[in-house]
Amino acid sequence: MKLEVYESERTLAQALAAVVASAIEVRPDIVLGLPTGRTPVALYAELVKLTTDRAIDWSHVRTFNLDEFVGLGDGAAGSYRRFMHDHLFRHVPIRPEHIGFLDGRAADIASECDRYERAIVAAGGIDVMILGIGANGHIGFNEPCEVLPARTNRVVLEEGSRAENALWFGGRIEAVPREALSMGMGTILSAREIVLMATGERKANAVREMMVGGVTTRLPASFLQLHPHVTVMLDEGAAVRLPATLR
Ligand code: GLP
Repeated sequence: MKLEVYESERTLAQALAAVVASAIEVRPDIVLGLPTGRTPVALYAELVKLTTDRAIDWSHVRTFNLDEFVGLGDGAAGSYRRFMHDHLFRHVPIRPEHIGFLDGRAADIASECDRYERAIVAAGGIDVMILGIGANGHIGFNEPCEVLPARTNRVVLEEGSRAENALWFGGRIEAVPREALSMGMGTILSAREIVLMATGERKANAVREMMVGGVTTRLPASFLQLHPHVTVMLDEGAAVRLPATLR
C-alpha cells in the first residue's frame, strides 16, 4: 500500500481532487467508484471547484456509488443518492444516465444487487475506486463479520455505524435504516486502482489495523492489503497510530 500523509483534511482533499480531475482529463470515459460520508465532502467541494476552473468535461464519465440504505432511494432525505446529488452530481455536468446507484427501494433486493454487478461489468469495470473507512474498519458497508460477501449484497448495519450516520438523519439514530445494500469486497477489489481516504484521530486505530494488522473479516478494510494498486491518503490525525517505519 502506498501511503501519503497530508498536514490537513483540506490539503488531502485538494490533492485527491487534483488526481481525479487529471484522471478525467487523461481518460474522459473513466469509471469512478465513489463513497459518501463526512470525509469526502471536502473532496467533492474541491472537485466541483476544479471542474469550473479547468472546464472539466464529465460527459463521458461514469460513476458507481458504493452503497445505499435499504428503503431509501432517489431524492429521499438521508439517502446516499441525495447526498451525492447535493455534494457532487448537481454541480458537475455528468449525464444522469451515467450515474450508477443501488436502489434501496427495490422490491427484489437480490435482483437489484445482480443488476448492479452487471452494470459495473458492462461499463468495463471500475477504474478508480475511492473509499472512506468506518471507525470499525468497514468499507462501503462491509461490516466486521465472520464471512464477507464477495459481491453486492444486503448487509445489516452495526449500531456504531448507524450512530455515525445519524448526521444525515437530523441526528436521530432511530431514523437510520438498519440495513443497507453495499458493493461486496470482491466488487471493490476488482477495481483497477483504489484510493482510501481517512481523516481524524477517530479513524487512527482502524487505519493502523488496515495497514499493519492481518487480513481479517473482523476489519474488512484489511482486505485492501491484497490489492496491488492501493493508495492510502491520511491527514496527520488518522496517521498518528501508524508505526514510525511506515511514515
Ligand atoms: C459510512 C459509509 C462509508 C464511509 C464510512 C465513513 O457509513 N457507508 O462508505 O466511508 O461510513 O464515513 P465518514 O466519512 O462520515 O466517517
